[in-house]
Amino acid sequence: MLGGMAPDEIICDCNRLTRGDIAAAIAAGARRPTEVYARCGCAAQCGRCLDVIRAMLAAPR
Ligand code: FES
Repeated sequence: MLGGMAPDEIICDCNRLTRGDIAAAIAAGARRPTEVYARCGCAAQCGRCLDVIRAMLAAPR
């Protein structure tokens, strides 16, 4: 699911969310970006990370 990318790569600078944090939220049931943020205990701020989060949500699981 991580596509060979480092799980400690920061995807969301505003909330300091790593690729691994986002993958864990998706694995735990998040199905949309707002659910990913909620499961990580934060919320979207600038939204610059949305494209990557959406791509991860769309990736085959
Ligand atoms: S980088 Fe994720 S909300 Fe700003």
